[in-house]
Amino acid sequence: MSVRSAPQTPATRLVAILLPVAAGSAVAVALGVYGRLHEPTGVAINLAGFSGTLAVKTWFTSAALALALVQVGSALVMYGKVRGVVGPPWIGTLHRWSGRAAVLLTVPVVVHCLYALGFQSATPRVLLHSLFGCFFFGAFTTKMLLLNRRGLPGGALPVVGGLVFAGLVGLWLTSALWVFSTVGVSL
Ligand code: HEM
Repeated sequence: MSVRSAPQTPATRLVAILLPVAAGSAVAVALGVYGRLHEPTGVAINLAGFSGTLAVKTWFTSAALALALVQVGSALVMYGKVRGVVGPPWIGTLHRWSGRAAVLLTVPVVVHCLYALGFQSATPRVLLHSLFGCFFFGAFTTKMLLLNRRGLPGGALPVVGGLVFAGLVGLWLTSALWVFSTVGVSL
């Protein structure tokens, strides 16, 4: 009997989940430790068409959240959770690419957060934001590692996908929404 077709036991199923969770946790802790130990540089970034670092990061984070909403919506249709709605044949592609684009948009933002600002805890909002940032990438790592695993419990991927989404919502509420409501909405 080849190893590939070995029957899944509760123990192998548990390991199939625990290893990706352990890897994601390690990524989250590593980002936090780096953000805490690294001397923030305060370097600014900008892109043509934006007024400065704050605007670039705030709009990239908001666009990432909008794409994540498309991803969650397409997942609900794919899993048949939207009554009476049958997904078009390209719904899976939309789900995958909206997720990929959302995470890609967060990469330049988190690089600036970690490199220029670091892990800060001056206020509850900033501490929560820093924690959400680490959690988001940890959960994303776990989801990517679980994607090609066989024999997972049916709810594993939707739960981890939901945690990734919750992390991004937390990031947006503790940063972009704060900027929009204090500095104002401008490019
Ligand atoms: C490891 C993760 C992260 C850490 C430690 C971190 C840390 C920080 C800190 C300390 C600030 C300044 C807060 C303030 O004074 O108002 C900040 C701002 C911000 N962060 Fe993050 N962040 C992280 C991840 C992210 C991610 C993943 C996103 C987007 C998806 C994000 C989006 C923003 C935005 C939009 C701002 C406001 C603009 C600014 O003040 O520069 N952060 N971050």
